[in-house]
Amino acid sequence: MSISIEEVEIVKTILKHTEDGTTDMQPDLMRNPVTTYTDPDVLTKEIDVLFRKFPIIIGHSEQLDGPASYFTNDELGVPILITRNNDGVVKAFMNVCRHRGARLADSECGHAKTFSCPYHKWTYDLNGDLRGLPQAAGFGDIDKKDLGLVELPAFERFGLIWVRPSVSDEPLAFDAWIAPMAEQLGGLGLDTHTVFKTWSLDRKMNWHLALEGFQESYHFCGAHEHTACSAYLDNQSVWTDNYPHVRHSVPLPTVIELKDQAPEDWNPRPYFMTQNYVFPCNYVQVMTDHVYIHTIIPTGQDTCIFKCMMLIAEPPKTEKAERYWQKNYDVIRTVFDEDFEIGENIQKGLNTGANTEFLFGRYEIGLHLGTKAIHDALAGKLTA
Ligand code: FES
Ligand SMILES: [Fe+2]
Repeated sequence: MSISIEEVEIVKTILKHTEDGTTDMQPDLMRNPVTTYTDPDVLTKEIDVLFRKFPIIIGHSEQLDGPASYFTNDELGVPILITRNNDGVVKAFMNVCRHRGARLADSECGHAKTFSCPYHKWTYDLNGDLRGLPQAAGFGDIDKKDLGLVELPAFERFGLIWVRPSVSDEPLAFDAWIAPMAEQLGGLGLDTHTVFKTWSLDRKMNWHLALEGFQESYHFCGAHEHTACSAYLDNQSVWTDNYPHVRHSVPLPTVIELKDQAPEDWNPRPYFMTQNYVFPCNYVQVMTDHVYIHTIIPTGQDTCIFKCMMLIAEPPKTEKAERYWQKNYDVIRTVFDEDFEIGENIQKGLNTGANTEFLFGRYEIGLHLGTKAIHDALAGKLTA
């Protein structure tokens, strides 16, 4: 596949920065009030808008390994049942029975053609249609068509499963919304990747603090002095504003090798770690030979879930390959723990009054762009 115009621009920008000793900068610094992280009204509004009106990555296609497969998810604050129907199409529903509200599917994942409610055995199919109810005469002439599971908008794109976790008549133009990221995400071939690990962490920090750890590389040589610092050029990220999404390209020191090649020959993947912010709470973090998908979800004013999938191109065929991927996993867990320890300590200091606002420096461009998009959505100026 030939290099994209966006990637040529990224490589040219970083090569110029390395020559000139410069880096990307915003014109001004930004001041963010600490109420962003402490005000319960802010969080309520964020959940209503950011976490109910936009698509959120909920899994990888591999988790639905053929027709009549399913998994459940409760992490978004809404019980969700995700199925692949007999035509191979991914569907999502509220995991809530239409009779008297019992939780329908209880297992984390499995294979099933129908789902039978544990309470009174109303039965639904993979399309959420109510197929049967015992002793139906007791319900008079109700129409089964009106009592299917409540469906949520679901999309399978780029090997990932996305769900909008709310019922609404508002249309969701998924492809238009993701368009600024589609070329890059489509080029990763994630649909043929396999999930090497998934993990989910409950952290004692506001969700923004987890989010912000991926929006700048200024902290790498502070927080990650013995891990990520030496792996990348110090604070020399390149930013692509794919509003409301952001491509944050963090170059490896070897990137200067590209100076000796013609742009049409450039293959940038081995020379960058890319932290793609996919609005509002998703990251597609592209390493040189594997990918992490992160989803950050608030569970309270000062708590969040950090959910992660590690995707690799094919299942490890040898012990050596297994060890290689395991080592990568161990390193990234260490790096993230370094971020989270700092984030949890920030949270502890928020109510001290030491700061009324945080400063987003001119280097910390992802914070500027991400915060602006969030403000736009909360003000009703950005919809999916
Ligand atoms: S609540 Fe599900 S069948 Fe009664
Ligand atoms: Fe970090």
